[in-house]
Amino acid sequence: MAEWQKSDWRNKPRVQMPDYTDTEALHAVEAQLASYPPLVFAGEARSLKAKLGAASRGEAFMLQGGDCAESFEQFSADAIRDTFKVMLQMAMVLTYGAKVPVVKVGRMAGQFAKPRSAPTEVVDGVELPSYRGDIINELDFTPEARIPDPKKMLQAYTQAAATLNLLRAFSTGGYADVHQVHAWTLGFTESERAADYRDMANRISDTLDFMRAAGVSSSTSSALRTVDFYTSHESLLLEYEEALTRLDSTSGKWLAGSGHMIWIGDRTRQPDGAHVEFARGVLNPIGLKCGPTTTADDLKVLMEKLNPENEAGRLTLIARFGAGSVGEHLPRLIKAVQEEGANVLWTCDPMHGNTIKSATGYKTRPFDSVLREVREFFGVHKAEGTVPGGVHFEMTGQDVTECTGGVRAVTEENLSDRYHTACDPRLNASQSLELAFLVAEELSNLRETRAAEAV
Ligand code: PEP
Ligand code: CO
Repeated sequence: MAEWQKSDWRNKPRVQMPDYTDTEALHAVEAQLASYPPLVFAGEARSLKAKLGAASRGEAFMLQGGDCAESFEQFSADAIRDTFKVMLQMAMVLTYGAKVPVVKVGRMAGQFAKPRSAPTEVVDGVELPSYRGDIINELDFTPEARIPDPKKMLQAYTQAAATLNLLRAFSTGGYADVHQVHAWTLGFTESERAADYRDMANRISDTLDFMRAAGVSSSTSSALRTVDFYTSHESLLLEYEEALTRLDSTSGKWLAGSGHMIWIGDRTRQPDGAHVEFARGVLNPIGLKCGPTTTADDLKVLMEKLNPENEAGRLTLIARFGAGSVGEHLPRLIKAVQEEGANVLWTCDPMHGNTIKSATGYKTRPFDSVLREVREFFGVHKAEGTVPGGVHFEMTGQDVTECTGGVRAVTEENLSDRYHTACDPRLNASQSLELAFLVAEELSNLRETRAAEAV
């Protein structure tokens, strides 16, 4: 078989990608991006893969989260810091409950392109092409705004580079020092979960005091002072992905240089399509969304294509069936995995199967459905004896009102107060933390059950 080339996807059927009319401008942008440095280094992608491999065996747990769609307009240091901070808090809760390391992966620094359920949108009788994310066109409902503009890829690259730079600074520059566990609680003074979090923070502080007395502190241990934080996004706009793909001189393999991990969405996972063709050739960890329409046969073909060497940590299956449907679909796909003897990491995306339109016209997700899908995911894995290895959320550190419910009870009427997402509704900081406590409970119950079974 001929060796894989980063442009091979161009010979395959493509869906959900824009038709750029100005091909000259497109080629100029591609050439420019191809001359720029990659955003990530192959060694980082490999270390993430090893950690996801540990998660697939239950020796770690993956927390993946961030915006549905990053936005050019809402780009700010505060927004990045707040999402990073909530993810650290969630990771702390999860580590405390699960007693395993938490692998932190942002839907950040590249999550710009969006698949859409319809190619056009009609408002008051006017039909225009759909908005496809800030890397492609604009949200404004005018014909000009909806024309795909290749130059937006350059702005996306610049924003991704600046975002990643700040994330790296926070991760290693002292902000993520575990001794900051109390400082991270600021801004969560009202919710019930804030009290739970403070309680846990107190116990962690006690432990840290003890460790310091025993000679282990931030100055002696980088594990207490820094965190590993990785980036990920849907690999949808393949012109952008190809232009940032680089040969890793150490291994002779190709690296998608746009982020540490990339995933294939529920609408672009055709086994013979362009998106699978691109992802199969790069060395990064790959995510694959699995929905109600994923067949066992397709999954088997996809596992073979995307992970022919059956490498642990290479393939993450992101289950997104919807509350009430996990019991119908997850067991049949777990069976397909077992029949192939495939190494996969199972994670739960309780967002994309639970989107509804509220009576007030906003796209929303009831927090109860999100919780229910997470519980169902854990329930099936418990029954099957398999590993629930992670979670995938659309969330933000901002105090938005986009999903209904939670302890601070966002109602359908509240949705208009602070509805800022450019695409799907996100959990706010308080809902995210509440969810982390639920997941930690599920993990700790599972650990106890399995330990009891083992004796
Ligand atoms: C997403 O993750 O934003 C998304 C579009 O998900 P899915 O492909 O699962 O619908
Ligand atoms: Co989404």
